[in-house]
Amino acid sequence: MSNKIVDLRSDTVTKPSPEMWEALKSLKNSDIGDDVFREDPTVNELEEKAAKKTGKEAALFVTSGAQGNLVSLLSSTSPGEEILVEPLSHIVLYEVGSAARIGGLSIRPYSSNKGIASLDELQQLVRVRNDVHQPWTTLLCVENTHNSHGGVVLPPSFLKNLNEFARKNNDMKIHMDGARIFNAAVSKKIPVTEFTKHVDSMMFCLSKGLSCPIGSIVVGSQEFIDKARKFRKMLGGGMRQAGIIAIMGLMALQEKWINRLEEDHINAQRLSRGLKEVSLPIEVNEPETNMVMVKFPDTVPIEKFTSTLNKKGILTLGSGNRIRLVTHYGITAEDIDFSIGKITEVLKKFLP
Ligand SMILES: Cc1ncc(COP(=O)(O)O)c(C=O)c1O
Repeated sequence: MSNKIVDLRSDTVTKPSPEMWEALKSLKNSDIGDDVFREDPTVNELEEKAAKKTGKEAALFVTSGAQGNLVSLLSSTSPGEEILVEPLSHIVLYEVGSAARIGGLSIRPYSSNKGIASLDELQQLVRVRNDVHQPWTTLLCVENTHNSHGGVVLPPSFLKNLNEFARKNNDMKIHMDGARIFNAAVSKKIPVTEFTKHVDSMMFCLSKGLSCPIGSIVVGSQEFIDKARKFRKMLGGGMRQAGIIAIMGLMALQEKWINRLEEDHINAQRLSRGLKEVSLPIEVNEPETNMVMVKFPDTVPIEKFTSTLNKKGILTLGSGNRIRLVTHYGITAEDIDFSIGKITEVLKKFLP
């Protein structure tokens, strides 16, 4: 019996690269300091590098993607205002309602075609300041790549239209949950600034495909980041000698490391192709980045299916009648072929 484990639950399970460990080992006391006093040279370097890379004035190192999204919302709005958010976005589904609970924000969902909204519908949803009955819409959120829609890329052309729309409507701000924005840039073979130039603020994760163990970054104008820094402190995210983590973030932002994401995309395509070839009654997406979504007939009991698959060494997350398979650093083409074999074997047991 094989002890092989292929963990396809998420790209958050990635471990640091040998280069990250080497960089960590070479760190000296003079490379770290109290970051709340802005005295950690490694964190300062990471923030400067992140701002430069994304074409924004300033950046802030935060503990997680959820914290990064929340400090961004808090910095761009005031309690009682309304924000437009896609209903399957991470902010709506998986951030414990923090926008409402902590930000005091009213959430107005907009429908979308895989994350892409219709400007006509958005226009209907915007509410203005001078109406005594209504909250005022001050922020529009997008997610790129869009996790629940299978890692799809929201193209710069859409973001450009959104930006023009926002300027005409209360001059509202745009926040992009760009947890996996480098996957988007690598997939489209364009610089990340082609996406970021159309939004006011963005959060991206170091801890997903870029395989840093901890941390995310928020970018935006200097004024926005100054506010975000204060909100981060309020939320308990003011870290001290955080250079110990930031050093790995610096490695994660190296161009060659970002370009490595292409391997994950190729593996996702291999997985999708392989599952389509087994000719079982399943629907498999055409992955644009590192996520493969497999939809099963309603008769397949997803929890039982995933737990049986787990016992065979393939870890996945299931919800409703589908499973999500995420490729990432550490997953090889051989792991993909092994997974296709196991998924097919287990699925056959659950199909009539
Ligand atoms: C699109 C998106 N945004 C935000 C987050 C939150 O990141 P974290 O888990 O670091 O809080 C995630 C995490 O999976 C995500 O997929």
